[in-house]
Amino acid sequence: MAFASCTFIFFLLLLPLLAIAQTDGRVAVGASLTAAHNASPWLSTSGDFAFGFHPTDNEDLFLLSIWFDKIPGKTVVWYAHEDGNPVLVPEGSKIVLNAENGLLLSNARGELVWKSAVARADVAYGVMNDTGNFAIKSRNSDMLWESFAHPTDTLLPAQIMKINGQLFSRQKENNFSRGRFLLSLRENGDLVLNIVNLPTNLVYDGDGPYYNSHTSDPANESNSGNQLIFNESGDVYVLRRNGQRSLLGTGSTLPTPREDFYQRATLDFDGVFAQYYYPKINTGNDSWSTVWYQPENICLRVGGLGSGACGFNSICSLNENGRPTCNCPPGFSFLDPNDNYGSCERDGELDCHEDGQISKEDLYDIEVLPDTNWPTSDYERYGTNYDEQDCKTSCLNDCFCVVAIYGGGSCWMKKLPLSNGRKNSSDKSKAFIKVPRGDRPPSFPNLREADDDKNKRNLIITGSVLLGTSVFVNLALIGALCLSFFFIYKKKLSKIDQGGLETNLRLFTYKELAEATNGFEEKLGRGAFGVVYKGTTRMSASGSRISIAVKKLDRVVTDGDKEFKTEINVIGRTHHKNLVQLLGICEEGEQRLLVYEFLSNGTLAEYLFGNRKPSWCQRTQIALGVARGLVYLHEECSTQIIHCDIKPQNILLDDNYDARISDFGLSKLLMMDQTQTKTAIRGTKGYVAPEWFRNLPVTVKVDVYSFGVLLLEIICCRRSVVDEEMGDEGNIILTYWAYDCYSEGKIDALVSEDMEVMNDTKSLERFLMVAFWCIQEDPCLRPSMRKVIQMLEGVVHVTVPPNPSPFSTIG
Ligand SMILES: *[C@@H]1O[C@H](CO)[C@@H](O)[C@H](O)[C@H]1NC(C)=O
Ligand SMILES: *[C@@H]1O[C@H](CO)[C@@H](O)[C@H](O)[C@H]1NC(C)=O
Ligand SMILES: *[C@@H]1O[C@H](CO)[C@@H](O)[C@H](O)[C@H]1NC(C)=O
Ligand SMILES: *[C@@H]1O[C@H](CO)[C@@H](O)[C@H](O)[C@H]1NC(C)=O
Ligand SMILES: *[C@@H]1O[C@H](CO)[C@@H](O)[C@H](O)[C@H]1NC(C)=O
Ligand SMILES: *[C@@H]1O[C@H](CO)[C@@H](O)[C@H](O)[C@H]1NC(C)=O
Repeated sequence: MAFASCTFIFFLLLLPLLAIAQTDGRVAVGASLTAAHNASPWLSTSGDFAFGFHPTDNEDLFLLSIWFDKIPGKTVVWYAHEDGNPVLVPEGSKIVLNAENGLLLSNARGELVWKSAVARADVAYGVMNDTGNFAIKSRNSDMLWESFAHPTDTLLPAQIMKINGQLFSRQKENNFSRGRFLLSLRENGDLVLNIVNLPTNLVYDGDGPYYNSHTSDPANESNSGNQLIFNESGDVYVLRRNGQRSLLGTGSTLPTPREDFYQRATLDFDGVFAQYYYPKINTGNDSWSTVWYQPENICLRVGGLGSGACGFNSICSLNENGRPTCNCPPGFSFLDPNDNYGSCERDGELDCHEDGQISKEDLYDIEVLPDTNWPTSDYERYGTNYDEQDCKTSCLNDCFCVVAIYGGGSCWMKKLPLSNGRKNSSDKSKAFIKVPRGDRPPSFPNLREADDDKNKRNLIITGSVLLGTSVFVNLALIGALCLSFFFIYKKKLSKIDQGGLETNLRLFTYKELAEATNGFEEKLGRGAFGVVYKGTTRMSASGSRISIAVKKLDRVVTDGDKEFKTEINVIGRTHHKNLVQLLGICEEGEQRLLVYEFLSNGTLAEYLFGNRKPSWCQRTQIALGVARGLVYLHEECSTQIIHCDIKPQNILLDDNYDARISDFGLSKLLMMDQTQTKTAIRGTKGYVAPEWFRNLPVTVKVDVYSFGVLLLEIICCRRSVVDEEMGDEGNIILTYWAYDCYSEGKIDALVSEDMEVMNDTKSLERFLMVAFWCIQEDPCLRPSMRKVIQMLEGVVHVTVPPNPSPFSTIG
């Protein structure tokens, strides 16, 4: 009795083991699996492979797949796909083995999403084979369908790929979406790797594949490749029709005995096709090891259309495992910070100043990267006896040039987007990358003075003299010339030391400006700081006359010269496409004049409130431009600048109707303490933030408030405050009226039922919500200008704003 019960207990203990041992991997018709976390899959006899629903990085989606079940991480070797695009299904989806159709995958609502195309409607059973192949067999054991015949990115031992067979890469290790790389066995017998355009799947083959097995023979077909074979003992080769084998990897280091290792050959997401092994007996810290990989250097082999092995504007270098590593060049960073294989974007835009007002050397620096090249982004080549310095200078002075590559006496100019970037020591070329100087002050003071013109004229004269004289005289002349330059330079330096200015601003004399403005004849307008006059001048001897706006300051700090210079230095160092550029100054006696570039299209106020309403598209661009300019002033320039008077009269429009902020950086000249409001309120009625009245510290958030009001004006094309006789009761104050309309769901009233805007209510609503966040009474609730841009662009979700002025009453 005791013996019997012992046997029984022993048998019970054994039962689970037997159950595993007894599975022959067979799946009966009618069997099914449901997608869920921890659902058990269909296992192969040995339990090495499993077929079932594999969870993905997206918690809610599963992938019908086959994986190595005994390996931690459960490496996926096959998944249900259409042309390489994975069939991802939600929890509750179901796979059934059906007598007519083989495998049927339906989603949680019972809709068919994928099926195996069986050869005949005669399914007897399925089997998860120990080779990792899921096979569907007929009653007389014919093969009706097998996963080995529909590979995704991986081949296993015993798997054969026929002519026209393909492997598709994934997006990322854990993102199964189709990637940019394709392996295919061509009709002619070549095994090739290509880059593919997504999402159209066009194969870029103009410059040839980036790997080619060269196993075709057009002269004698019987020498051409016919199959790609991964044989049981672990060799991967192209089998030719004549029986010859061309191994893919040479110098194989697959350890022995080979039966002790799992193997696979995968077209990885980085475009490399490689064979791997993994010990079947776990030793604790195992991983997949590489036997061989193709191509030998993916960074060098990719060319033609597309970005190359890495993204656009990126540099590919090969790591010690033969894998590409992608890096952004100086002045660039990854578009998606989480995607180290993606494209890089430029940190700031390079402005193209046409009229030589600012020398390129002052705007940009050149950074040198050795052994780097972007061979497919040329637009100009200089040669043949060009030197490095010529190459740098050519790039600096060429608007389109992003990078110049110098090598062997030639200089190649490269344009955006840079593609196929690579670093390789055998390249023997140097990359000169143009980067904005940023906030660094120029290396030495560089004030262009009025007598510049005279120097230039002297040079021209001496130049023509040089042409017609003897070597000796020339040498003497050159010596004299150098000396005179030395003295002129010294003289300049001493002048600048006195002035204490360290910018690229030109110093004008009062007389010059009086001439430029024809005796201060044409008045452009009157700002908070003084009257603005139109004028024209030459910024250099060779330059053509340009239009300028001259601002004669009428209220200037009494604290003296020093403060004025500090402020002008701050303003003079700002460079941004959404700011009006200060070109020069004049300080003579009591006179303080500022010389700005002249913008032809007037102020935003004239544009917005004029007879012809600008289009919605233009208005959104202007709003974004102002926001960008403010981000620069608040966060990006060397000294933070609070504008304090953002309003449509202070926004100018350039030739393209892009917004340019003017009058920034001047508030300190009015003896304003920017952190306390002991003196008069700065700013303009209707735009000033409540903290001005409340004795609260004044921060960049006052500009955010004014921007919010401006944004509402841009949206509604009306002024923030209208005359009482013109407005109805309730819409006199724009901010109140806009919020009322918004909260009552009547936003169409705000844009006077403008059809263009009403077709884009999503943007309209987003812009309104951003505006209400900006005009919150509590400065802490207002977003930063950077956040404002992200919200306006729709990059960041905008939450529903609270009532901006809950404590105020209309009055
Ligand atoms: C996978 O990559 C594709 C294409 O880049 C992207 O659209 C998708 O959101 C990614 N999926 C996951 C789960 O990250
Ligand atoms: C199943 O695996 C065995 C070896 O385990 C192999 O001999 C057989 O060919 C495989 N069958 C299929 C259909 O892959
Ligand atoms: C093709 O090549 C095979 C050997 O690879 C050779 O036996 C055969 O004669 C060749 N045929 C022709 C037409 O050259
Ligand atoms: C696999 O291929 C290699 C190289 O051609 C060969 O030596 C080996 O015998 C093959 N193994 C099997 C099981 O066919
Ligand atoms: C674990 O990994 C280290 C370094 O990769 C290696 O030196 C060590 O031999 C490994 N241990 C085992 C048990 O495989
Ligand atoms: C550079 O390219 C050569 C072939 O042109 C290659 O042999 C070498 O390994 C490459 N070096 C690096 C660091 O990529």
